[in-house]
Amino acid sequence: MNKLKITETSLRDGHQSLIATRLKTSEILPILETMDNAGFYSLEVWGGATFDACIRFLNEDPWERLREIRKRVKKTKLQMLLRGQNLLGYRHYSDDIVEKFVEKSIANGIDIVRIFDALNDMRNVRVAAKAVKKFGGHCQIAISYTISPFHTLEYYKKLVEEIVALGADSIVIKDMAGILLPEEGYKLIKAIKSVTSLPLELHTHCTSGIASMLYLRAIDAGIDILDTAISTFAGGTSQPATESLARTLAGTEIDPGLNMTLLKECAEYFKPIREKYIKNGILNPQAFFVEPSILEYQLPGGMLSNLVSQLTAQNSVDRYEEVLREIPRVRADLGYPPLVTPLSQMVGTQSVFNVLVGERYKVVIKEIKDYTKGLYGLSPAPISNEIRKKIIEDEEVFSGRPADLLEPEFLNLKKEIGKLALSDEDVLTYAMFPQIAKEYLEKKSVGGNEEKNTVKTINIVF
Ligand code: CO
Repeated sequence: MNKLKITETSLRDGHQSLIATRLKTSEILPILETMDNAGFYSLEVWGGATFDACIRFLNEDPWERLREIRKRVKKTKLQMLLRGQNLLGYRHYSDDIVEKFVEKSIANGIDIVRIFDALNDMRNVRVAAKAVKKFGGHCQIAISYTISPFHTLEYYKKLVEEIVALGADSIVIKDMAGILLPEEGYKLIKAIKSVTSLPLELHTHCTSGIASMLYLRAIDAGIDILDTAISTFAGGTSQPATESLARTLAGTEIDPGLNMTLLKECAEYFKPIREKYIKNGILNPQAFFVEPSILEYQLPGGMLSNLVSQLTAQNSVDRYEEVLREIPRVRADLGYPPLVTPLSQMVGTQSVFNVLVGERYKVVIKEIKDYTKGLYGLSPAPISNEIRKKIIEDEEVFSGRPADLLEPEFLNLKKEIGKLALSDEDVLTYAMFPQIAKEYLEKKSVGGNEEKNTVKTINIVF
């Protein structure tokens, strides 16, 4: 029997989920050597919201962070999360930017690139996947897990065939909302393993309280790699704790062989840092509340609190239950998209409009119109003619790959940012977040970068 492998997430998803991605490079570097020796398969350290947070809140160069991490991590693979054609931003980028971004991520130290698309539309993953292979990285493609009458085991098996055809080196089940029930997980893993022998990884969140039970059943089903976070940044909206799983499996045939002394050292190192984020209000105790209701509504935990604040702003918090009932209807109308950024925000906001306006789709937000026109990719299930007419009337639906509509943009962006960019990496930073990157690069050029003290949250992509 193969040993279980562990991907340690505290330096990406762990702090993204619990402290709004605020760990500074100076807080990360001193513990890396210890983490490198602890026996992990990989360390997830980059991508997701880390890039955004670096320039938006920390005034740090995300590329520099990656290079500094790489210098200190010599044995363990470094891993990042990439949102397919959206890279680390919130729109579709042209293919030349995608290719360049992947090239530079690998050149600066990334080994494994985990790529996902919110709709599981593999046309939005293809170019990034090809680039990872071209530049010698390990291409891991994600299944964004969701529940609907359309998302059957057959659907997932077919998706896995597409993933294999793209040349993936491994596959991950990405349960970003923490709604994969243990028995369903068991069946899903068995089904995937019946169609491919590629290594299979599982990623979940503890939000609903079932994550550890899921992990044990995943092990029964033969999962190869599990995502956990050092206890200091585990639990709640983050992943299950690394040390707890290591203790559970110690001495078994699949014992991942982690060094308990070093794990403890990591946990102790992060404690005063976590304390700082509790004191400054960034770590909200609510992140640790168990939210079994997300299993009932199948909505990510973050979406529930967003709804309350949207409704409070409209003075309509008494309509909360109605909106909760409307969300699954809107999701069904739209072909059951997985509720992950940006779809979770889009479906939530449209549901609020449907309820508050008093007539469904009388007011339709632009993003939902674009989605219905096919500009985000293919909806998992077809959208009925009746609903489509309500949303976009007789406007044309685009059935191609969304990025085919985009001209190459790297050279234009390079020209636009001019002398402020000292490297291709700087141009890519500018491409991701034009406004804040420009401010950041300006400050960097005069050497006046200090951390901003804002306590704002950013769009979190799990
Ligand atoms: Co996650």
